[in-house]
Amino acid sequence: MSNLNYPYIVKSLPYEIVSLEPVIDKTTLVIHHDKIYLNYIEKLNLIIKENKDLSNYSILELIYNPFLIPPTILNKTLYYAGGIYNHELFFDNLTSNKHNMINGLFNKMIIEEYKSFDNYKNFILKLAASPINYHWIITTINCKNKIDTIGLKDNDTTIPLNLYPLLVIDIAEHAYFIKYHNHKDDYVNSIFSIINYDVVNERLLKIINKKKNS
Ligand SMILES: [Fe+2]
Repeated sequence: MSNLNYPYIVKSLPYEIVSLEPVIDKTTLVIHHDKIYLNYIEKLNLIIKENKDLSNYSILELIYNPFLIPPTILNKTLYYAGGIYNHELFFDNLTSNKHNMINGLFNKMIIEEYKSFDNYKNFILKLAASPINYHWIITTINCKNKIDTIGLKDNDTTIPLNLYPLLVIDIAEHAYFIKYHNHKDDYVNSIFSIINYDVVNERLLKIINKKKNS
């Protein structure tokens, strides 16, 4: 796991930067990973450099424990930490193996909640079409072990809501505009063919086992 300690580092993509084409074009992914995500890492490192008391915490610890952060830098610290955390979840739940089918326990829980994969996909498409300017659509598991899919703005995370992220989709303009222009729905429709459901199922099992043991 990356980013356990300051200075935080860029986590490499688990696939070649061109290999998500044609769903996500190389230029978009270069900008998204090598510039936007990198910028969040650099900005957070600068904040911690000036606030050395925070340097022993991982990015996740900062998000889980906002009371540790001085009020004057709270918003910007959580903004960059959240941006790093959400982007890493997003990049990691994509794959160059195209046309993956939803499977495993995640599939079972999606069917329980939405009755069909198409209903689930339509729910996400509706959220993405909302006039609220969401950066993220995140399918989570809640404290009752039920699936809950939500939209989040800016770099807000699911952590303060007590929701554990399973499948993260970035729907900010920077994630699709170069290729899809104003057709966000086409981007969201297409991205389902490059979701790594093995990673999503691993996250789900990890959370369920952790709850069992606690
Ligand atoms: Fe993004």
